[in-house]
Amino acid sequence: MRVVPVSGERPDPAVLAEAAELLRRGELVAFPTETVYGLGANALDAAAVDRLYRAKGRPAWNPLIVHVPDAAAARALAAAWPAAAARLAERWWPGPLTVVLPKQPIVPDNVTAGLPTVALRVPRHPVALALLRAAGVPVAAPSANRSGEVSPTTAAHVARSLGDLVPLVLDAGPTEVGIESTVVDLSGARPRVLRPGGIGRAELEAVLGPLERAPQAPDPDAPRPAPGMLERHYAPRARLFLFPPESAAIVATEASALARQGETVGALLRQATVPVAGRTVVLPEDPAGYARELYRALHELDDAGCSVIMVEEPPSGPAWEAVRDRLERAARR
Ligand code: TXA
Ligand code: MG
Repeated sequence: MRVVPVSGERPDPAVLAEAAELLRRGELVAFPTETVYGLGANALDAAAVDRLYRAKGRPAWNPLIVHVPDAAAARALAAAWPAAAARLAERWWPGPLTVVLPKQPIVPDNVTAGLPTVALRVPRHPVALALLRAAGVPVAAPSANRSGEVSPTTAAHVARSLGDLVPLVLDAGPTEVGIESTVVDLSGARPRVLRPGGIGRAELEAVLGPLERAPQAPDPDAPRPAPGMLERHYAPRARLFLFPPESAAIVATEASALARQGETVGALLRQATVPVAGRTVVLPEDPAGYARELYRALHELDDAGCSVIMVEEPPSGPAWEAVRDRLERAARR
């Protein structure tokens, strides 16, 4: 794998041309987005998309997000473009928002895991946008990690997870949002949030009106609406335990007990109020800052060989929904 530095302000056209050519030829390229690094493949090339599923070890039932440089390119892949899609695109594209719409037949079935809908997103990272324009094809891109692992927010995370499975990684430094895009399903009677993310529910509701919550448990008779909701996901190798907000003192006591039992303990805290046995990362107090640092912190504690990670949960307010979602998935066994 080659990791090639690319400037966000002035991406080197020669590097972009090479990456674009690889994509058009059906190869995989990892690239930065504003949320997390993506692993790209030509979304109109079913064989390239197969290669992508294999490299990630991703189950065939979990569909991919298709990345395009603008709303017009998204519209070309959708069989319907409801007013809600127009409003969301106008407000947040380019940005950390994915919409699910009925698909055009040109989108291969493996991209959508056989579903009649396709997930579409215009990322706002300048390198991602420049790459999409240079490639001239829509790019299917899940997060650039082996399936089930913590998503990568740096090129080093990508290299560690995928190694020689990917020929080229464009490295533009750490990502800005740090957690994945918000996924909104617009294919049904009413818009639904399938995955909380970079854009909060309150902001979406200001544009769309009240939103349904996607069901947490799947209806056994229905095709799975967002398979990503069902997996243990975004998970470090260490076992992760959640503690209530403001419980740093309890974390400290538990950490000492676990350390005595021979565990290698890591802790994610919101304030450094009490010393904790083992390696501690203190995350920012605001939701955006916390989201930006969360995966980096989980990677760091994993790499330090922690067998247990204890997390002091952030507060319960709506601004923390996406962060809490990722922590709860990571804690799932
Ligand atoms: O921020 C992001 O969205 C990143 C960057 C790289 O763009 N990508 C990302 O992709 O997180 P991935 O594959 O890790 O997550 C895609 C999510 C999954 O939960 C998947 O189930 C859902 O989108 N999804 C994709 N197509 C869908 C569809 N047709 N219907 C419902 N859910 C869909
Ligand atoms: Mg992922």
